Formats: sequence, structure tokens, C-alpha cells
Amino acid sequence: MDTIIIEGGSTRLKGQVTIEGAKNAVLPLLAATILPQEGKTLLRNVPILSDVFTMNNVVKGLNIALEFNQEKKEILVDATGDILDEAPYEYVSQMRASIVVLGPILARQGHAKVSMPGGCSIGSRPIDLHLKGLELMGAKISQVGGDITATAKKLKGANIYMDFPSVGATQNLMMAATLADGVTVIENAAREPEIVDLAVLLNKMGADVKGAGTETLIITGVERLHGAEHDVVQDRIEAGTFMIAAAMTSGDVLIKDAIWEHNRPLLAKLTEMGVEATEEADGIRIKSDLTKLKPVTVKTLPHPGFPTDMQAQFTALMAVVNGESTMIETVFENRFQHLEEMRRMGLHSEILRDTAIIHGGQDLQGAPVMSTDLRASAALILTGMVAKGQTKVTKLNHLDRGYYQFHEKLKALGAKIERVSEVEHV
Ligand code: EPU
Repeated sequence: MDTIIIEGGSTRLKGQVTIEGAKNAVLPLLAATILPQEGKTLLRNVPILSDVFTMNNVVKGLNIALEFNQEKKEILVDATGDILDEAPYEYVSQMRASIVVLGPILARQGHAKVSMPGGCSIGSRPIDLHLKGLELMGAKISQVGGDITATAKKLKGANIYMDFPSVGATQNLMMAATLADGVTVIENAAREPEIVDLAVLLNKMGADVKGAGTETLIITGVERLHGAEHDVVQDRIEAGTFMIAAAMTSGDVLIKDAIWEHNRPLLAKLTEMGVEATEEADGIRIKSDLTKLKPVTVKTLPHPGFPTDMQAQFTALMAVVNGESTMIETVFENRFQHLEEMRRMGLHSEILRDTAIIHGGQDLQGAPVMSTDLRASAALILTGMVAKGQTKVTKLNHLDRGYYQFHEKLKALGAKIERVSEVEHV
């Protein structure tokens, strides 16, 4: 397994960085490619990430033809043949997000068997909201031997009020509803930009989805869907990660093609801290002077609140800003593990249930640390750029799930960072 080695302490990031298509958009978009019985679907601006390969395997496992042209960052899917209705454990167990194939397979085939996703380090992550919604649409659901089986010859439109605006459940139910009989109304729906991106593709496929980006989705079922072409929306979390990297290193970085509106909750907090954020014609420029930044309080919430996927990286910034900052994590119950790793670098913090108090601005020292999940891996690398001396970050399989060429991009901005394989550095 690879290690990232960072020489920290004096890095000031400068220049411009290009952002990929969003992981959390492309995964449900790939699930949507299961739906069309006519025509091929072309996805452009696809990020080259291990989670994308996993989802490709889930789709291919359904007997669907899929070609990934990595050079062009395009995926072409042909689901017009006879498809299978079972998503095997082998792939579903690798990635929780693969549960979003349940709705599309069921809607198209009248039957679906999907392995129950396994455990997760950031929280318990049940799928009750996905299943309750499908049941309201008339599906019979059973869970036996680690598999979820759902059956409904034809799903029926339903009124669904979600207890919590779950991103995955909203996506699953939205896709299922496109081929249901009648109208489905999903209230308290998730409003993330990735939900909007999925609705845009579904509508290009001939679906009738209204209200995406608001808390009420109205989906009128249609008989059939057809293939379509679509550019995956830019990754607001990757963009946000580079914004924080620039802020932490007193940098001046243009994050090309970053979308201001999608990053508003993060930009509001950066600005409150004293970071200079400017919208330019081709992206967002972040300028900062670390010595002048002020501590803040942040609470993660569903969109348009502050994203939980930026929490770990933001705590890295809090760790280097003088004074006491507070981070409240309300979306996942176990997403502070990176703070324990940062403790190895000299960070003083206290965690009480969903609240972390971070005593920032102490001298941090490089240390060997381990990624505990995807966003934690980015947070540790960012902290390593500011900590004095050498930081070694391991368990990069987490990083590769969601960041393409992360260390190359940081290096191009001036970070002293290398990635070495085990063989080279032992
Ligand atoms: N929840 C339930 N029941 C459900 C579904 C969710 O209680 O049926 C709870 C979860 O346990 C969690 C909360 O609702 O506490 C939020 O879960 P949600 O369903 O919204 O998350 P998700 O769809 O599983 C997506 C992203 C995550 C991101 C969350 C929240 C993808 C592929 N994943 O997960 O991304 O953290 O939304 O914004 O879109 C990441 O990229 O690092 C990542 C973990």
C-alpha cells in the first residue's frame, strides 16, 4: 500500500487547480443508466476514482454494456438488452453507495435483489428510509441472508415524507418513481447539488421530475426512458478541500470551475474566519493570511447547511488558526476519528458526543498518521503541509475513493509532497 510523505511547515500554495466531476454525483448517475430501455447514455466529465470503478462493476454485473474511456473521462452505457436484477455482494460490500441501484433495478425489472451494504467507519448508516419509501410505492421488501429483495410488478406513485433528508434515499426513490404508475411526492427531500444533477439527467432521459433542489420533489411516472448525454457536475467537495488547503497555507489559489453557489456554506465560514474569497470568471480565488484568521463555530447539516463531507478538512483549518474553534457534527455519529490522528501531530482537542472543541494555533509536528475514511485522509494531508517536519499518511485506499491525483495537484501548487509505494520506501 502507498504512503504520502509531506515536508511541512513553510508551504504557501499558489497557482490554479482544476477540479474533477463529482464522485457523489457520478455514482447515482451511473445507477440511473440502468433505467433506459432504448438508446445509450453518455456521461462526460467522469472522475477517475476507485468508487467509479466499483460502481461500473455493479452496473456491468447486471449484464449491461459499459465502456469507460479514461482518457476522455467518458462512460458509455448500453442498458437496452435483457438485464439481470441482482447486484452481488462482491461489489456492493465494497461501497455503500451501490445501494442506489435498488430503486432503478426494481422500477425497470419489477424485482431486485441487492446485497445489504456493510459497516462504515463514520456512522451506522441504516437504509430504512430507502426501504420505507419503496414500500409506500407498493414494493414488498424482505431481508434474508444479507440480501434485500424488493418486488413490485409496477411501482405506484405515493406521498413520501422522509424523516431526514437522506441523499441516497432521495436518489433511490426519485429513480424508482420515474417509471411508477402516477405521481410520487417526496417531502423533506435532500437538496444537494448532486440531487439536482441526477434530476437533470433523468429528465433528459424522458422522466418528469420537478422541484429538484427544493424540499419537495414531484415525479410523474412515465412508461419508458431513453438514453441521454450528460456532463457530471463539478465536485464541490474537492473544490472545497483545495479552498481550505489555500486558506491553511496563507496561499493564493484559483480553484478553476468551482461553483460559488454549491460552496456557499463553506465560503460563508471561510469569509467569517477572515479568508478572502472572490468569484472570478473561471472559478473561485482563495487568498489568506493564516496569522490573521479567527476561530469560528461550525455545525454540519444537510444542504444548504455546512456539508459533513467538508468537516474533517475544516477541522484541519481550525487546528492551525489561533484560538478555540467548535465543530458540531450532526449528520454522522462517528466522524471525528481524524482528530485522534491529528492528536499524534500535537493537536489539542476535546470531543463530547457530537461536538469537538479545537484549540488551534499550537505548534504541530509531523508524524506518521493513518487515514480513517475518505475525507479524513485529505484532512491529514492538509495538516501535514502546515505541521513542522515530516508527515507520513497511510491507508490511501480511502483517498483514492474520492480524490483524483490529489498529491500531484497539491505539488503543482507548491506543496512538498510525494507518494511512494511500500516497496520503494522500506
Ligand atoms: N440515514 C438514515 N436512514 C437512511 C438513510 C440515511 O438514518 O435510510 C441517516 C444516516 O445514517 C446518516 C444521515 O442519514 O446519519 C445522512 O445519510 P445520507 O443518506 O444523506 O448519506 P448517503 O446518501 O449515505 C451521501 C454521500 C456521503 C455524504 C452524505 C451526506 C454519496 C455517494 N455519499 O451519503 O459522502 O457524507 O451523503 O451528505 O453521495 C463522502 O463523499 O465522503 C461521503 C461519505
